Amino acid sequence: MCGIIGITSNKEVTTRIINSLKKLEYRGYDSAGLATLKDGFINEVKCEGRVEALEKNISKTNVQGEIGIGHVRWATHGKPSTINAHPHSSETVSVVHNGIIENSTILKKILEKKGYKFKSQTDTEVIAHLVTDYLKKNNLKNTIIKVLNKLHGSFALGIIFKDYPNLIVGARRGSPLAVGYGPNENYLGSDSYALKSMTNKVSYLNDGEFCLIKENQVEFFDTKGNKANKKILNLSQDNQNYDKGDYKHFMAKEIDEQPTTIKNCVNEYIDKISKQINIYNLPWKTKEISSIVLIGCGTAYHSCLIAKYWFEEHTNLDVTVDIASEFRYRKLKFKNDCLYVFVSQSGETADTYAALDICKKNKMKTCSIVNVVESSIARDSELVLPIHCGPEIGVASTKAFLGQMLVLYMLCLKLSFDMKIINKKNYQEKIKNLLSLSNLCKKTLLTDSKIQKTSRTFIEAKGSMFLGRGYSFPIALEGALKLKELAYVHAEGYPAGEMKHGPLALIEEGMPVVVIAPRDDYYKKTISNMQEVIARGAKVLLITNKSKDEIHSENIWETIEVENLSEDLFPFLTTIPLQKLAYYSAMHKGYDIDKPRNLAKSVTVE
Ligand code: G6P
Repeated sequence: MCGIIGITSNKEVTTRIINSLKKLEYRGYDSAGLATLKDGFINEVKCEGRVEALEKNISKTNVQGEIGIGHVRWATHGKPSTINAHPHSSETVSVVHNGIIENSTILKKILEKKGYKFKSQTDTEVIAHLVTDYLKKNNLKNTIIKVLNKLHGSFALGIIFKDYPNLIVGARRGSPLAVGYGPNENYLGSDSYALKSMTNKVSYLNDGEFCLIKENQVEFFDTKGNKANKKILNLSQDNQNYDKGDYKHFMAKEIDEQPTTIKNCVNEYIDKISKQINIYNLPWKTKEISSIVLIGCGTAYHSCLIAKYWFEEHTNLDVTVDIASEFRYRKLKFKNDCLYVFVSQSGETADTYAALDICKKNKMKTCSIVNVVESSIARDSELVLPIHCGPEIGVASTKAFLGQMLVLYMLCLKLSFDMKIINKKNYQEKIKNLLSLSNLCKKTLLTDSKIQKTSRTFIEAKGSMFLGRGYSFPIALEGALKLKELAYVHAEGYPAGEMKHGPLALIEEGMPVVVIAPRDDYYKKTISNMQEVIARGAKVLLITNKSKDEIHSENIWETIEVENLSEDLFPFLTTIPLQKLAYYSAMHKGYDIDKPRNLAKSVTVE
C-alpha cells in the first residue's frame, strides 16, 4: 500500500507534505519520510513509526525546500525501519513508491554489477538507481519510459531530481495516483483526499501513464511517451467531519455514528412518500441480468456473504460471492447476463480494483458499492452506489460494514421488485422496516456494560470461536475478524452446524464462544449447537434478540439481547455487540485501536 505526496511550488512545502502525510496514514503507518530539493541538494528525513515522529525529526533537522516528496509506508519488502522507509535516493534522484516491483531481485543484481550500492532491503531502491543509470545516457522523458518498461509489478511513483530543480515525475501502473492543480504550485498524491486541503481541481492518471509536474505546468504521457489529454475534475466541497470529538478513538465514534449513517443512507435511497427505492439509474435492463457475483475483501467480503442470503431469498438470481484476490486469478467464464458487484469502503483496494478491471476488459456489467465516491473503483464502474457513511478513519471497518450491507440489501429489494419477484405489499413492508432500522441500532448500542465485562475473558483466553447459521454465519466471521484485528487474539468464525466436523475438538473448559442466534429460521438448530459446545466446557456469550420466549438452554455464561425486527435485518443489530467486544478487548490490552499493528485501512498492493 503506502501513501505518496509531492508538491512543487514557489513557497516552502515541508509543513504541507507533513500535513498531507497525516491524511495518508490510513494507507500505512509503519514508517514515514520525505525528501526536498534545496540549493541543488536532496535532503532526506525518515523514521520508523508514525508521521508524528517524522514531524519531530524534521523540526530538529530543519529540512526545507520548495519542492518535495513524502511517503507513509506499509512494509512489503524489508521490515519497517528507518533505513527501509521511503524516499529512497541516489546522489541525483529520490523516489517514493506505492506497490511492489516483482523483478527487483534481478534488477538489483544487474545494478550491483554496475557498481550501485544498496542501503535498504526494499524493492523501491532499484528504481532510484535505475533512473540514475538511464539518465546518464538518455534525456528525462526517455529515461522514464525506459525505466517504466523495465519494472514488473504494480506501482505509483513520485520522483524528484537534483538536476531538474522544480520537477516531480509521477507514474502509475496498477496503484492509483492523482495530480492536483494550485496557484503557482501543483501536486501529486495517492488520492484526492490528501490534496483536498490544497486544491479541489484534480486529474487522475490512467494505468500506464506518467506525468511531469512543474509549479506552473503539468504534462501527461501514455506508455509510449505520446502526450495524453486530461480532464480537470472539480472535487466536491470537503465539509466532512474528520474529528474525533470527545471520543478517545475514531472506532468508538464510528460505532456510535451508525444510527446516523444508517439514517442518512436510508434517506438517500428511499423515497418516503412513494415508499420506493431510488435506484433508477441502472444502465441495464433487469431482464438482461440472471446472475450476480459479489466481490470484496476483508469486511467488505463479509457484507457480500450476507447479501448472498438476501439475493437468494428475494430474487431468482444465481448468486456467487468471491474474495477479490481469488477472483482475479481464477479461470472464469464471463457471462453477459451477469452483474458483477464490487464492494469496497475505500474504493482503492488493489485486489478489488483488479477484479473490476478484469470484468471491464471482458465487457461485463459492473456496479460498485463504495464509501469514497472519488475512488478508482467508483470512477471505473458503470454504476456507483455510495454508502453515504462519511469518512471512516479507524482501520477496522465498522460503520462502512453496516452501510455496505444496507446498500446491498436495498439493491436486492430493488432488483426483486423490478423483476416482479417480491410483491408490492412485501416490498413496501420491507422498506418500512428499513425506516425503523436507525432507531433500533441506536437502542442496540446501549448493550455496553455487559460487553465491557465479558471482553476481559476473551483477551485472557488462548483462543475463541464465533458461531452462527444463515445470516448469522457471516456475522460470526466478521466478529472473529474484528477481535483478531484489534485485540490480536486468535478467533475463528464458523458455521455452527460445522463444529461437529472438526473444530469441536478445540473446545475446552473455559473457552469463550460467541453464539449468534437471533430468533430466526435457524434459531433452534443454532441453540442445539450451542448446547454441544457448552457441554464441552465452553463459556458461551449468546447474542440473540429480545423476546418473550425463554431460551431453552442452561449454563449460558452471558446473554446480550438486541432489539427486535424483521428476521432478514438481524445482521445489522447482531454486529454491534461484536464491534464493541473487539473494541473493549483491545482497550483492556492498551493497543492502538485506530491503527492496529501490521494493518492499513486501504490496501493498494496485492
Ligand atoms: C483492509 C482493511 C479492512 C477492509 C479491507 C477491504 O484490510 O483493514 O478493514 O475490510 O481492507 O477494504 P475496502 O476499502 O476495499 O473495503
